[in-house]
Amino acid sequence: MTVRTLPDTLMLAEVAADWLAQRVALKPELTVLVATGQTPMGMYGRLAARVQAGTLDCSQVTAVQLDEYSGLAPEDPRRLRDWMMTSFVTPLRILKVVPLDDPATFTAELEALGGLDVAILGLGPNGHLGFNEPPSGPDAPTREVALTPESLLSNRHYWNGLDVPTRAVTAGMDVILGARETLLLVSGAHKRAILGAALDGPETPEVPASYLRRTALTVLADQEARP
Ligand code: F6R
Repeated sequence: MTVRTLPDTLMLAEVAADWLAQRVALKPELTVLVATGQTPMGMYGRLAARVQAGTLDCSQVTAVQLDEYSGLAPEDPRRLRDWMMTSFVTPLRILKVVPLDDPATFTAELEALGGLDVAILGLGPNGHLGFNEPPSGPDAPTREVALTPESLLSNRHYWNGLDVPTRAVTAGMDVILGARETLLLVSGAHKRAILGAALDGPETPEVPASYLRRTALTVLADQEARP
């Protein structure tokens, strides 16, 4: 496990963009699990700038959706698919996407691709990864789940006063932990305690992120999250 504390979110975004760009340079057809949420947006913006400048080519990358709310109409503005498309897939000029709708189709598509090279993850305030809410053990499969009150609260600020859907489909812990490398991005004092539990506490289904230590993990945190 590598843990780096960066002075601020700008540096975090820059170092995170370097991390992914290096992997794309080594393997242009990288298969990448893509978190939405606030934390990775700076990283995605920097990657997009590099693509625009012609210093990074992501045209052979496959983007894999991490999670999606259940029961939304195709045109609903809260779809995480659209967030992934507008923040990552379109600006990085990525051509291949594995959407997450039906768990069985998703699992089969991922298997056909040979699994994930890289998972880019944020950390939920309750230790969730994707929407693997506590308790989620390491074998939890891709499935539909009910969101916990903490996740409903933390997702509320994404949607400008719209309600947060109460159910979601998430890539399983088995998928996430199967990635050949994982990048966990954490920012803000409100994540300090849960990041400490994930990195320094016992492995437990009550903190799903604690299982990331089983993977080839890089954690990039800002000063507030990991002083
Ligand atoms: C988003 C996701 C979530 C977030 C987590 C942190 O696709 O799967 O697990 O990564 O809730 O969210 P932020 O980054 O908004 O603090």
